[in-house]
Amino acid sequence: MRLSRRRSTELAAGFSYRQASRSTASSESTSLLYCDDVALTSLKEKYGTPFYVYSASAIRERLSVFERAFRKVPHTICYSVKANSNLHILKLLAEHGCGFDVVSGGELARVLRVQRRAAKNVVFSGVGKTYADMAAAVKAGILLFNVESESELGVLAQCAQRMKRTVSIAMRVNPDVSAKTHPYIATGLHQHKFGIPIEEARSTYARVLGSKYLRVSGVSVHIGSQITDTRPFGQAMERVAELVRELRADGHGIDYVDAGGGLGIDYGNDVLPRFPDYVAAYADALVRPLRNLKIHLLLEPGRFIIGPAGALVTCVLYHKTNNKKKFIVVDAGMNDFQRPALYNAYHGIVPVATRSERERELVDVVGPVCETGDFFARDREIPVVQEHDLLAIMDAGAYGMALASNYNSRPRPPELLVDKKRVKLIRRRETIADLIRAEL
Ligand code: LLP
Repeated sequence: MRLSRRRSTELAAGFSYRQASRSTASSESTSLLYCDDVALTSLKEKYGTPFYVYSASAIRERLSVFERAFRKVPHTICYSVKANSNLHILKLLAEHGCGFDVVSGGELARVLRVQRRAAKNVVFSGVGKTYADMAAAVKAGILLFNVESESELGVLAQCAQRMKRTVSIAMRVNPDVSAKTHPYIATGLHQHKFGIPIEEARSTYARVLGSKYLRVSGVSVHIGSQITDTRPFGQAMERVAELVRELRADGHGIDYVDAGGGLGIDYGNDVLPRFPDYVAAYADALVRPLRNLKIHLLLEPGRFIIGPAGALVTCVLYHKTNNKKKFIVVDAGMNDFQRPALYNAYHGIVPVATRSERERELVDVVGPVCETGDFFARDREIPVVQEHDLLAIMDAGAYGMALASNYNSRPRPPELLVDKKRVKLIRRRETIADLIRAEL
């Protein structure tokens, strides 16, 4: 398989530079960054900065590449709502036939708000489901509970019994497979809080046999997020496939395998196989161990679908130099976009208007929040920018707005969904009044 390194100038689908003007006095030309068919500079005037912007065509394209990779096996894509839970994004995905992976009553409520009938394709994951959340999901009639402990199994059995409703369950198993990702987002080792050890799964499933209101219907697994090597997915699935055979021999009806999410994206600092070969390799890693098992596969991608389809656009406030170190202070902060601060994550940062003969300089790109951790890039060479210029922080569609907070009493930015030439404000900028409303 051919490997490619994405150059920092190469943009995610949905974002591209288009030439704006060519000066007659010099050979210099200016290009503007577009999302679909809309120049990002034009959005600044109407919506201010910072703002999140998403490309509807990129979302559709990524979903369809993912979908195609699994076309040969029965499957349902249950988009992981935690990556980006904006109602309009969920609506777009629901209209394209997606189900959803939720981890809280709040996420479930969002899905139901968008499309009541989507409940039949909802899976509910998470180690700490409350009774109230379970009851809401039972009432909605979701497809599957991914149960993460024997204690949770007991509470769910009580809930189903009180509501006199039969619910389908899968145990989430922890396969003890190392996922080679940031330690905060690896979940598939026994040292992590997730799932039940795969070796104990048979005895846990045995507890469900004979239960009046719980029906075993699957096995689930999720080994972590931003995993760019497809082999650990295959290793985990080998173990799950073996368990499926054993459970069937024990008399359980196993119709579903929920393979979780976790397929990584190219943030510009990794070496990945070419897209879409990469997705095909992922599909192969999951499907191969399950062949002959007649399983319906559930998939929970989040980042892969929405990550590269979004950017955070921010305005340069100041240039400053402390001794020899140069800082570009922008108007977005770690409250708006946490990934660099939280995981030391790399994100491409590009000027929204760029000239062909632009010098570059080594800078830290930082926000206004009162913490040294408030940075978007450190010691990064970027084209020289002036105060009032716009910068786009790329691949920010997943775990961007979803992780944003009001730290430093900063209202969260608006979100815009661009579809070809059409711009839709899908969440307005928060106001100070929004921030203090709940403080009675
Ligand atoms: N399914 C389960 C059970 C999960 O826990 C997750 C993510 C997903 C699916 C979706 O994973 P994805 O396809 O998006 O990798 N905030 C971190 C990522 C946390 C992921 C948590 N679980 C980040 O910004 O990298």
